[in-house]
Amino acid sequence: MNIINKLVAQTMPLVPKSIVGKISRRYIAGDSIEDAVRVVRGINSNRMMATLDVLGEDISAREEASDNADEYIRMLERIDKEKLDSNVSLKLTALGLKLDYDFCIENVSRVIKRAKESGIFVRIDMEDSTCTTDTIRAYLMLQKKYGNVGIVIQAYLRRSVNDIEKLLAEAENLNVRLCKGAYVEPRAIAYKDRELIKKNFSLLMKILLSNGAYVGIASHDEEVLWEGLKIVHDLKLPKDAYEFQMLVGVDKELRDIIVDAGHRMRVYVPYGEKWYAYSVRRLKENPEIGGYVIKNLLGIR
Ligand code: FDA
Repeated sequence: MNIINKLVAQTMPLVPKSIVGKISRRYIAGDSIEDAVRVVRGINSNRMMATLDVLGEDISAREEASDNADEYIRMLERIDKEKLDSNVSLKLTALGLKLDYDFCIENVSRVIKRAKESGIFVRIDMEDSTCTTDTIRAYLMLQKKYGNVGIVIQAYLRRSVNDIEKLLAEAENLNVRLCKGAYVEPRAIAYKDRELIKKNFSLLMKILLSNGAYVGIASHDEEVLWEGLKIVHDLKLPKDAYEFQMLVGVDKELRDIIVDAGHRMRVYVPYGEKWYAYSVRRLKENPEIGGYVIKNLLGIR
């Protein structure tokens, strides 16, 4: 990222919400479940799987957490009814993690139980580092109880290598999405150097894949994808031992390249009205963000 793009990314909170909404539309299926179903159908017809996410991480009341769980259940019913090739991803804070751990577990259990009835897998996303320990604890308990649950590990966290050793030792049918990590974290707990984050990504992938875990390699970084392909090749793994994952709205060409080479690809599809926090994280990662924001602020098409 050049200096102007970095500067714009750092000052995103100053960009008017209407502009954030306009330039982040590509990252979100739309406001409604109908929008989400339409986007997933398109993805499925392009030989890719999906994972659906209901936006709504910044909640402050128990009622909102229950509403989010209800929306997940409506969405699971649609996946089942329409025979979509999609699982779901959820954030524990959207289901009440920051309000009350036990209440959050009640909500997420409702979702996981409904998913299990239709043989649908549920991925628990990983959020900022204040959630890591609770998320791992919740995952281990829920996977043991229901068996259709997966977790996410972030390569930028210094603790991740220990976390995956714990997961490998304690979880059955371990299924991990590996990503770089999307939150702003202090140096004391997260690697800051981009090259080091990639090295850690490779290390974690290698440990997980050589110990029999299913890995969702979630990145749009060609070097990370190459490392993944190298590990898979060296270990002579079959194509159903791993999958690649990318976000809707990012590098469709790369998605097609991976699928054309015969690998499994899953696209992350968020939808809902609470799009702001998610959109800001995506825009900050867009290497061309400066140009988009400046053009929109100046009203240039
Ligand atoms: P990087 O950011 O270096 O991007 C590589 C290239 O991809 C860029 O040069 C650019 O070309 C393109 N690109 C990337 N982001 C773009 C964008 N927003 N707009 C346009 N182009 C873009 N994080 C987390 O903390 N917890 C989680 O649970 C998840 N879940 C998750 C699921 C899936 C399916 C994916 C793909 C990612 C996540 N993430 C996540 C986000 C992840 O941690 C990371 O922040 C982003 O994937 C960006 O990192 P890359 O590895 O793509 O590299």
